[in-house]
Order: sequence, then structure tokens, then C-alpha cells
Amino acid sequence: MKKLLITGGAGFIGSHVVRLFVNNYPDYHIYNLDVLTYAGNLENLKDIENKSNYTFIKADITDEALMSELFEKHQFDSVIHLAAESHVDRSISDPLAFIKTNILGTVNLLNAARNSWKNQMEGKLFYHISTDEVYGSLGAEGLFTETTAYDPRSPYSSSKASSDHLVRAYFHTYGMPVVISNCSNNYGPNQFPEKLIPLSINNIKNNKPIPIYGKGENVRDWLYVIDHASAIDKIFHEGTNGETYNIGGINEWTNIDLIHKLCEVMDEQLGREKGESAKLITFVKDRAGHDMRYAIDSSKLMNELGWKPSLQFEEGIVKTVEWYLSNSDWSDNIMSGDYEKYYEQQYEKR
Ligand code: NAD
Ligand code: TYD
Repeated sequence: MKKLLITGGAGFIGSHVVRLFVNNYPDYHIYNLDVLTYAGNLENLKDIENKSNYTFIKADITDEALMSELFEKHQFDSVIHLAAESHVDRSISDPLAFIKTNILGTVNLLNAARNSWKNQMEGKLFYHISTDEVYGSLGAEGLFTETTAYDPRSPYSSSKASSDHLVRAYFHTYGMPVVISNCSNNYGPNQFPEKLIPLSINNIKNNKPIPIYGKGENVRDWLYVIDHASAIDKIFHEGTNGETYNIGGINEWTNIDLIHKLCEVMDEQLGREKGESAKLITFVKDRAGHDMRYAIDSSKLMNELGWKPSLQFEEGIVKTVEWYLSNSDWSDNIMSGDYEKYYEQQYEKR
């Protein structure tokens, strides 16, 4: 039986990846390792928590000794590493937390895997999940490819870039079997409402201002989270050792156009008059160092491994809004206490 360690499985993307692997691969045992920061939520996995091929381990990847101990105890033979601090705005106010988890945490896992696999690297795999933000910021033209030079510009993207370099270093230096994928912005069910789409859904629902940084002209390439999970499945099983794969939605939107689209969907679903939700749009002080445009060329993944996104944004955004509106308890539980404090600090002065 394959023993697959998935880190960060209680978070947004990780929970969709854990669900996919637990349901589709009954002959694998899935260990979900997560320390449950503000972004980790076991509610995300209620439907699979009692499956016999699933185990949850509460642990911090920055704990070097514990990572070695866990590899020793469970003898994992593959890793899909998603655990990270993931929000750019938080990285601007607290860079060190990102260095600790995203860089030191990744090295702890690499060392634990290397030590555990030292006599037999064949059949093993360390799959590192990364972001397109490592490539920096594009102008109006062009796409990020796998050979675009790294040019990270936020503490978040710099910490992810650093972890990518370290994973490649373990491939070249120690012969560790690795793959890396760099994905564009994800959206969909279970995303913590600090990120643009779920934050805006909640604010629209509660008739609060929708904060748009700067002029709303920044461009992101949005991918439905379940399509990211299916790409991870493909790459895990069919990716070539040592290679990198870009994953994107072929779906670029300026923030302001995206929010107008979201407002239309919200008006329809909440039975509001057309144009009602868009009145909440409020332009606020721009993010420091705000990257202008991200856009991904995923032709390597599409041509070599035959992956493609399963749905268009127009369909994905409706599904997403439906999920948030019919899972109000999920958002309400999160949006009390610490979230309110974060929201005040982040948005009050803007
Ligand atoms: P998230 O913030 O929703 O979840 C991160 C998870 O990691 C949480 O469950 C958290 O508890 C856990 N975690 C954090 N620090 C930990 C630690 N020290 N030890 C153990 N667990 C810890 O993030 P996400 O949006 O699901 O992103 C997952 C991964 O995908 C990240 O590596 C991120 O860089 C990458 N990524 C995200 C996006 C996106 O749009 N969200 C796009 C491309 C790549
Ligand atoms: P976000 O969801 O934080 O993802 P990332 O910064 O990783 O791309 O932000 C998406 C875009 O939306 C980005 O250009 C910043 C912008 N944004 C706002 O305009 N207002 C907000 O309140 C947030 C959170 C983001």
C-alpha cells in the first residue's frame, strides 16, 4: 500500500487534494499533516474523515525533530507538500512567519524524506506545490512558462521561490525524486475569506464595502480549485522526475471586471435588483508592491500529460457563490474572533 503524506491538507487546496486521493485511490493510505493555523479547518474534510485509508496528524512542519520522527514511524513513500503561509497581505505585515513555514518547514520535510529514503530513492517522490507568483509581475503582454526567470517581489512569493530552489537543489545534489508545479490563482469552495473572491462574496452578502486595491486594474488568471486538484493528480502519477509544470486557467480577469461579474451572480442568487451589489464596490489604498499581472502558459502540462481545466469561469463562479451561500455556518464560524481583528487591521486604515 502506498503511504502518501499530504501536508496542509486542512487548508483550501489541500482539502480538495486529500478528498480526491482518499476517494479515488482506496489502495493508498493518505496521511494529512497539518498544524491547523487560522487557515486550516477540519470541517473541510468532514465527509471523508472516517474513511479507513485516511489519517490526520496534527503537527508543525517547522518542528525538525518531529518531522524526522514521523517519517521514521510511518515510512511515507511519497509527499505532496502544500502546507504554507499563503496570503500576500499577511506576508507584508509578518514576513518571518512565511520564512519559517515556507522555507524552514520545507527544508525540514526534505531532510526527513532524504534521511528516510537514503537506502532506496526509487519509487519515492517529493511533490512540491508552488505558485506562479515566483515569476514576478507581467506587463500587458506575455505568459509565464516553466523557463521564465524567477523574480519574486513579495515576502510570500520570495519564500515560495526559495522553497522551489531548495527542492530543485535536493534533486540535483542528493538525487531526490521531485516534481514541482506552479499554479495561478485558485477559487472555489472552502477558500478562507481573506482572499479576494470569498472576501467579496461575504461582504456582498452582508452589505459591506467590497475593497478593491488601487484602480482594480491588476490581472489574475483564475483556476477552479478542483481543476488544480486534478492537475496535481496527473502530475503526481505521470510527471517526469525533476520537472516543473505550470498550471493555469487560461482565464485572465482584471480585478474590477471580476468583481462586476461576481456582483451580477450575487444579485441573481440573492434575488437583488440588477446593479445592487456593485454599489458596494469601494476603491481603497493599493497593496504595497502590488504585482500587476499574472498569466500562465500551461501548454507543457496540457500537451505532455493531457490535462485541461474542466469548467469555464462563468460556471465555476456560480458554483462557488452557491457553495458559500449554502454553507453560511462555515463562513460564520471563521469570521468571528481573530478574523475580525485581522479585518480591522487590514482594511480600517485603507
Ligand atoms: P491555505 O492557507 O488555505 O492552507 C494552508 C494550510 O497549511 C492550512 O491548513 C494550514 O493550517 C497549514 N499550515 C500552515 N503552516 C503550517 C505548518 N507550519 N505546519 C503544518 N501545516 C501548516 O493555503 P492554500 O491556498 O490552500 O494553498 C496551499 C498551497 O498551494 C500553498 O503552498 C500555496 O503556496 C500554494 N498555492 C496556492 C494558490 C492559491 O491561489 N491559493 C495558488 C498557487 C499555489
Ligand atoms: P488575493 O486573493 O489576495 O490573491 P494574490 O494576491 O495571491 O493574487 O488577491 C487577488 C487580487 O485581488 C490581487 O490583485 C489583490 C486584489 N485584492 C483586492 O483588490 N482587494 C482585496 O481585499 C484583496 C484581498 C485582494
